[in-house]
Amino acid sequence: MAVPKLQFACDHADLPSALADAGKVGDVVDILEAGTILLLQEGRKAIQCLRAMFPDKIIVADPKCADAGAVVAANCGSAGADFMTVICAASLPTMKAAAKEVKEVQVELFGDWTFEQAETWLDAGITQAIYHQSRDALAAGGGWGEKDLEKVRRLADMGFGVSVTGGLKPETLRLFEGVDVYAFIAGRAISAEPDPRRAASDFQEEIHRIWG
Ligand code: 5RP
Repeated sequence: MAVPKLQFACDHADLPSALADAGKVGDVVDILEAGTILLLQEGRKAIQCLRAMFPDKIIVADPKCADAGAVVAANCGSAGADFMTVICAASLPTMKAAAKEVKEVQVELFGDWTFEQAETWLDAGITQAIYHQSRDALAAGGGWGEKDLEKVRRLADMGFGVSVTGGLKPETLRLFEGVDVYAFIAGRAISAEPDPRRAASDFQEEIHRIWG
């Protein structure tokens, strides 16, 4: 089982604060993400700036694309993104079209989706999924538990590289011990800390303690 990667989601409301935090943690994390919130605020410039700052890192664009997959993915790819997210409700043609324009499409698993659908994504050559606890569901009292672990394990067994996200903290990661996770994606638990670099290092130390 590979050691999971650490992805920093820049969900900032403006580009200067996103880039300031990315600069603090960029060499500690494995993947940098132009998050949905940042993309809506600042657009492709966010991807371009992350790519310029980190030419050798994996850069993810997280538009949670629902339609016009080819155009959106081409725009993200030409700005410098390696990976782009599509929402699980998107049609297969949208996902397939997007997959031609970036190195990897990642299916964001929110709300209603089925393992039968997931098989069709694999058949289409899409092998990355993001198991997501939504910010709003967490705020309404949700949390991580065995029900989530079962789904993450099953997706990994099917052949997906599964990233996990939503309100993660370093102490949440021990729940996933023994599970084949591609990347842990953290936003606020890094950017909202007084020392984001220390917070990112705490995640990496916990990942390496458990999977190293
Ligand atoms: C929200 C997202 C976030 O970028 C991701 O879940 C990380 O957020 P946080 O760690 O702050 O909960 O995709 O839809």
